[in-house]
Amino acid sequence: MERLIITGGLRLAGEVKISGAKNAVLKLMAASLLAENECIIRNVPQIKDVLTMIEVLRGLGAEVSWADQTVLRIKPKNVSFYSAPDELVKEMRASVQVMGPLLTKVKKVKLFQPGGCVIGQRPIDLHLKGFQALGAEVVEEHGYVYVQVDRLKGADIHLDFPSVGATENIMAAAILAEGTTIIRNAAKEPEIIEEQNFYNRLGAKIRGAGTDMIRIEGVSALRPNVIDYTVIPDRIEAGTFMLAAVITAGDITVNDVIPEHIEALTAKLREAGADVSVRDESIRVKMEKPISPIDVVVLPYPGFPTDIQPQMTATLTLATGTSLLTENVFGGRFRYVDELVRMGANIRVEGRSAIVKGVPRLTGAAVVAPDLRAGAALVLAGMAAEGETLLEGAQYIDRGYERIEDKLNNLGAEIKRVQE
Ligand code: EPZ
Repeated sequence: MERLIITGGLRLAGEVKISGAKNAVLKLMAASLLAENECIIRNVPQIKDVLTMIEVLRGLGAEVSWADQTVLRIKPKNVSFYSAPDELVKEMRASVQVMGPLLTKVKKVKLFQPGGCVIGQRPIDLHLKGFQALGAEVVEEHGYVYVQVDRLKGADIHLDFPSVGATENIMAAAILAEGTTIIRNAAKEPEIIEEQNFYNRLGAKIRGAGTDMIRIEGVSALRPNVIDYTVIPDRIEAGTFMLAAVITAGDITVNDVIPEHIEALTAKLREAGADVSVRDESIRVKMEKPISPIDVVVLPYPGFPTDIQPQMTATLTLATGTSLLTENVFGGRFRYVDELVRMGANIRVEGRSAIVKGVPRLTGAAVVAPDLRAGAALVLAGMAAEGETLLEGAQYIDRGYERIEDKLNNLGAEIKRVQE
């Protein structure tokens, strides 16, 4: 168990470099399974989920090594296995993203049925329906998913929900299929565009990523060129640090970001009274006024991102009035609220909405981080609270944030890590 001891009441100020995007790099690593030659992936964040995905790829037979602190070299030539190790799938749900590439590469995949997690039920029915539409046979038994296919054939697929993972997995399974595949109601996240670019560099013929209709023209083979790809910055890490400026009445500049990827948050921060100045590759957030209450509706991209909902909720606990946050992506993503209430917040959850009545102050307390983004939210609350917060579950935060306490302490926070 890893703990953070957070001293509250400090104002954060300064500049922070944002790392490569977790939710892009994990998929590019899975996509590298389809390469005919070596893949070099740059701007890779040193986060736990990347280390787990390295083990998944090695478990499948790929050679993976660090060329330097932030550069991975992946040689997928020996990939012949079709099942990622169970314990890794249990540890990281994103392991599901190897299904599409494996189906294309070895025509079968067996995966331990990934469970839900604290943010709610996380089925993969849309992934499996997509595979079946492409001609695969899916069997779910004894807690495993078996997918097998002789020849993948293009199909016209409509997703019930613009699922990021399903869009990615279907894209990967359609690349070498016979004929054309269309994915309708596709997810439009920036990470999907990254995968389209990555696969097209390998010789795939994909168009439309970033819109709700993606067209994949099946090709007979991918090119044997070495691919050298740089990961986009992490919009969720950027958003988390922007909110750190607001909740501590500070002044933080996040560098190496793509501002349009986080526009929904920028608009909401301005509505809450923050002074946000946007440059080409950096955003400065200054908070010199009380936090105004606002309403936030979480929606698939380009709507307000679900991965920043907990951090926004934590910030609005100190607003001068009542805010309403509605979570339309994950059903159970308010479980962390009780931890904020223990710090003095006034929040009531009704179905998919949280009503947050602003309070004058939060007080430090012993809290438990149930998952990655809720953990980040509790760190924000701890930095703004009076007194000391003892946060259990820092290991969840490490899944998606590179040395979060170092980056925050460089901005004036006082956070110590205690290994139990
Ligand atoms: C990705 O998860 C991200 N993870 C999540 O980030 C992010 O919150 C989510 O997209 C939404 O943006 C990675 O990229 C590794 P979905 P994913 O499929 O692909 C339902 C973080 O903290 N659904 O878009 O699993 C699902 O239950 C993580 O970095 C089905 O019903 O998200 C959910 O309610 C958390 N059936 C909704 O769709 C399916 O087959 C969105 O899920 C698939 C999804």
